Amino acid sequence: MTVITVLESFEDADGNVVEYRGTKPQGKIRVAFSGSGNRLVVHPGASLEGLDVSFDCNNGTMRIGNNPRGRKITVTARIGEDSTIDLGDDLSTTGRLAMSVAEGGTIRLAAGVMVAAECQIRADDAHPIFSIRTGKRVNPVKDIEIGEHVWLGMRSVVLGGARIERGSVIGLGSVVTGHVPNNCVAVGAPARVVRRDIAWERTHLTLKPPYYKPDAASLGDLSPYWDLTEAPEAPARPRACASACGASSPGADAPGARGHFPAGRDTSRRTRDDAARRTREAE
Ligand SMILES: CC(C)(COP(=O)(O)OP(=O)(O)OC[C@H]1O[C@@H](n2cnc3c(N)ncnc32)[C@H](O)[C@@H]1OP(=O)(O)O)[C@@H](O)C(=O)NCCC(=O)NCCS
Repeated sequence: MTVITVLESFEDADGNVVEYRGTKPQGKIRVAFSGSGNRLVVHPGASLEGLDVSFDCNNGTMRIGNNPRGRKITVTARIGEDSTIDLGDDLSTTGRLAMSVAEGGTIRLAAGVMVAAECQIRADDAHPIFSIRTGKRVNPVKDIEIGEHVWLGMRSVVLGGARIERGSVIGLGSVVTGHVPNNCVAVGAPARVVRRDIAWERTHLTLKPPYYKPDAASLGDLSPYWDLTEAPEAPARPRACASACGASSPGADAPGARGHFPAGRDTSRRTRDDAARRTREAE
């Protein structure tokens, strides 16, 4: 194994390569190459507070984008055979972002993603699970795609197969396993859409005046991500009692039924309000 701790252009006899022509002082670096043909490509304008990458196998690739606004990132990554992590420009992390990809998988973050503390992005499960009946793997690696200007809330986890479109927000402690359309808030485990047609801004509530920000006009310049959600709202999820009663679940196979565009906040509010009204009437 070759371990480097200084970020500079590098190549070893096994064709493991670091491409970096920057001169900025960088934070704590550890890059471990165990196989051959691995490649770390760091933009000269990148801002690394910490980088700990293990290329465990062969032909892995990690690209780290530009950070012209000086936003810093701290990333720990494990990269397996033929696998890729692509971090776009203007990424920021609060604390250490943990990432993992194996078996030809890809994790791609577009520009301007904001990652809060204690988040994980994992395309693989680290260990295989097999069907006893067929002997086949049941937990293959699945690619992850995170669009521009996505905000991952604190302690959120993004798992294989997740696709979060531009401008969306993932709530604190959520686990994303499926598709989150653009300009939505998705929360919970697995994450469900609770708000559509939203836009978020990086402007901090306490660090940037004005210290009350009741509407978009209080911010001045806005990001270019003020778009309505494009995906159609998914049909309401089947009620729990249908399966409890042994009945088949109509709609369970409908698009979005597995956590994609579930019933929105308004629907759940209506259901709750109806229940409250029925209780009052019964009293
Ligand atoms: C995602 C978030 C920003 C959404 O805020 P919001 O739009 O005001 O959402 P609301 O509080 O109105 O909640 C909407 C619904 O989602 C639920 N919800 C909100 N956040 C949730 C979460 N993290 N996990 C599970 N459910 C959540 C609410 O209970 C509510 O459900 P209901 O409609 O059935 O009552 C916020 O909940 C959150 O997670 N904040 C933390 C952000 C963070 O990590 N900051 C760290 C620094 S970057």
